[in-house]
Amino acid sequence: MSALTAGSVVAVVGSGAMGAGIAQVAAAAGYRVKLYDTRPEAVTKALADIGKMYLKLAEKGRMTAEQASAATARLQAAGALAEVADAALVVEAIVENLDVKRALFAELEAVVGDACILATNTSSISVTAIAAKLRLPQRLVGMHFFNPVPLMALVEVISGLATDAGVAATVHATAAAWGKNPVHAKSTPGFIVNRVARPFYAEALRLLTEQAGDAATLDAVLREAGGFRMGPFELMDLIGHDVNFSVTQSVFHAYFNDPRFTPSVLQQEMVNAGFLGRKSGRGFYQYGEGAAAPQPRTEAPQPRPDFVSYSLEAGSGDGGVSGLLARRLTAAGFHIANRDSGAGEHNDPAPAFHCNGAAIYLSDGRSATERARANGHPDTVLFDLALDYATATRIALSCADQCSPAAWHAAVGLFQGAGFAVSRLDDVPGLAVMRTVAMLANEAADAVNQGVCTAAAVDVAMQKGVNYPRGPLAWADAVGVAHIATVLHNLADSYGEDRYRVAPLLRRKLATKGRFHA
Ligand code: NAI
Repeated sequence: MSALTAGSVVAVVGSGAMGAGIAQVAAAAGYRVKLYDTRPEAVTKALADIGKMYLKLAEKGRMTAEQASAATARLQAAGALAEVADAALVVEAIVENLDVKRALFAELEAVVGDACILATNTSSISVTAIAAKLRLPQRLVGMHFFNPVPLMALVEVISGLATDAGVAATVHATAAAWGKNPVHAKSTPGFIVNRVARPFYAEALRLLTEQAGDAATLDAVLREAGGFRMGPFELMDLIGHDVNFSVTQSVFHAYFNDPRFTPSVLQQEMVNAGFLGRKSGRGFYQYGEGAAAPQPRTEAPQPRPDFVSYSLEAGSGDGGVSGLLARRLTAAGFHIANRDSGAGEHNDPAPAFHCNGAAIYLSDGRSATERARANGHPDTVLFDLALDYATATRIALSCADQCSPAAWHAAVGLFQGAGFAVSRLDDVPGLAVMRTVAMLANEAADAVNQGVCTAAAVDVAMQKGVNYPRGPLAWADAVGVAHIATVLHNLADSYGEDRYRVAPLLRRKLATKGRFHA
């Protein structure tokens, strides 16, 4: 299916932050854009802002001066809805209210031709519900942009139950012609990104609630080991806790209180207190004049240990992840003795590393304390997942309650010797990055299983919509689906909560030793 031809008329209704961004992108791509808003001053402001943006882009060399003035000339104000009668596509970006959106589309149907496609930029309302009262519901589709529109590449193209497949395909191709990265999705609560991203916030809030570490430390671990551009607490402070909490609540209620989406009591208290984040001057961090940025907790330097051994067989049990760490240790000059004892003392896989008495394992979703008891090795230390062990600058470690200070210090010295800053987390199951990635992959797998989108689409969506360093399913492939499933099983066991149930598609991939991507 091809895109609407350049030069076609695109009407944008609602000229706020999103509408202005959509108009800017469409006109820059060669489409004639008519902007409408019930507040004419919003249109005037949007047109002025877009004109300035084009000039800025021209100054930066991202478009020529001729392109900037041609794009500006393609934009015009519509003084009344009747003036968008010649539109081939209308994109609605008005207030987030079902009744108001339905009323607008009903009015639009009386104005535009039958071939005109109607698109809504809703982020939380059912596309099926918005279309339900239309004469031609098959022509309505979701076109969900991300803020700021000119910078964020993702567009979720959302099909409601009545949406015509050809309409969705045309909108997909048109978004691509606007330079965007579109993905198809089914109209379900949160669509792709706002659903699959929930665990990024929720697991962090749970870790903080359980006193695994403070916000600055957990943020630093997710950034510096996990490779996320922002940590969850600084990101929630930026989004605003009122907004973030309300999205979580809306997804939770829309899935009929599925425990997987249970909101956080701690975040509710942040909202109750008015600690909304940057916009109120205080969230998990302070933002006033001269407020000091809290530093992550980092372990004091420990001596470089003189002995470390590695079990290849044990390492292969964690999807090869600890092999990557072994490479970093070798590169840092550690001589690593090989051990061939695959089995642990009590049927638990042997630790990947032994270091001056410490038994060091990749987190498998159990606490270190539980694992120490299971394998009969009190000096148990766990390390967290990293996006890339070769380049990560920080790593989270935890140790069993039974672990001796000497063994703990040996493990800390080992990681420090390889150039990691070490953050100690309390002994919570799954540590921070491992737990977050396992839950993101689980949610992504469930979305795919329910036909919301393809495996390729969910990974693109999370990278282009919220800047994740890797798609959750590609990440599960890299860590090994078996290890991700083990982490989830153990989390479910540790907490006894349905929240951590393993998604059926993950189980299925596990049974066939499959991967999500070829
Ligand atoms: P906004 O409040 O900045 O702009 C909305 C504009 O719509 C206002 O200028 C208002 O005067 C106008 N408006 C309200 N009712 C109207 C009507 N019946 N007819 C014509 N114009 C009307 O809101 P924003 O942030 O631009 O959001 C718009 C839509 O985009 C909402 O549905 C929102 O959920 C969705 N969205 C917002 C995102 C964001 O990050 N702000 C991200 C993705 C989607």
